[in-house]
Amino acid sequence: MINFWEKIQKKKKGKPILALAPLAGYTDSAFRSICKKFGADIVYSEMASVSALHYKSEKTLELLKFSQKERPYIVQLFGSDKKHFVEAVKIIEKEIKPDGFDINFGCPVKKVLKQEAGAKLMSNLKLSREIIKAVLSVSSKPLSIKVRTQSFSVGLIDFLKNIEDLPVSALMIHGRTLKQLFSGPIDLEIIKESKKYFKGVILANGGVNNYSDIEKIVKKTGIEGVGVGRGALGSPWIFSDKFKNISKNNRRELAQKTALEHLKLHFKNKGDLGLGEFKGHLAWYFKDFAGASKLRTEMMSAKNFSEIKKILIFDKKYKI
Ligand SMILES: Cc1cc2nc3c(=O)[nH]c(=O)nc-3n(C[C@H](O)[C@H](O)[C@H](O)COP(=O)(O)O)c2cc1C
Repeated sequence: MINFWEKIQKKKKGKPILALAPLAGYTDSAFRSICKKFGADIVYSEMASVSALHYKSEKTLELLKFSQKERPYIVQLFGSDKKHFVEAVKIIEKEIKPDGFDINFGCPVKKVLKQEAGAKLMSNLKLSREIIKAVLSVSSKPLSIKVRTQSFSVGLIDFLKNIEDLPVSALMIHGRTLKQLFSGPIDLEIIKESKKYFKGVILANGGVNNYSDIEKIVKKTGIEGVGVGRGALGSPWIFSDKFKNISKNNRRELAQKTALEHLKLHFKNKGDLGLGEFKGHLAWYFKDFAGASKLRTEMMSAKNFSEIKKILIFDKKYKI
């Protein structure tokens, strides 16, 4: 039976596969739905702690809920305890029913590294392999992994050689080292090289800010697609080549329309408790237009969603 990664590859007929990369605090159900609408082929959840799931965290399960229109939807897990991974996968299979699982081998956040998880896990070849095998043994859903080009003394190629025989379906490579954190150029050479050591779908990630970046990266590396992270924030239309050459004025209009649609979905899912998070999105939607800073200030001081809605709909003084 062919899995959804293979199905997407067939459907795209050589065009790049476009995924929304996981972004904690941003890629919730509302934002994933918006990105899907604009053409994302695959969406990832925010990272979820396997240990929190082991301790029956309702909040973590809530974070992973999704709507059918988001499919194929991948739940990303982080942790370093093999048993917790197995339990978490079983719980999610039963309660959430996503299309696939992903393991985080790239997170550089101190709190995560301290738990020997994220990028720290990537640097432990033995445990990485054991955890991948454990997840594969407990779920028949496609497994993907997200890695960096280097973590401590372990480079991407060593990491891939260590798991070459395991049936991992897809690999998202954040083309930066752990030391680089979230800035600087991505290493296209090593991404290209990784094709020799990984048989599944490879997605490059890092610094993709417009549709031309997607085309350039895929052409230079020969891989199957890209994972878009911050480039989708405030610009979820990045997934559609239709908006490739959108003018600044049209972009401003599209930002207003999309932010409104996003607001409705976000409010429906989270109510007023989601206000702070949504303001995070607004800051990305209204970033570099004339008068944007004034508009942002006004939005940031809004006390609820209806105040934001009013600003978005009625305030003509910012000409949106
Ligand atoms: C705010 C924020 C949250 C992130 N959360 C996650 C996460 O939950 N899981 C993960 O694998 N990577 C996470 N990342 C990393 C991104 O998926 C991506 O690898 C990184 O931002 C580089 O891509 P970009 O330059 O396109 O943003 C996060 C990055 C940012 C900035």
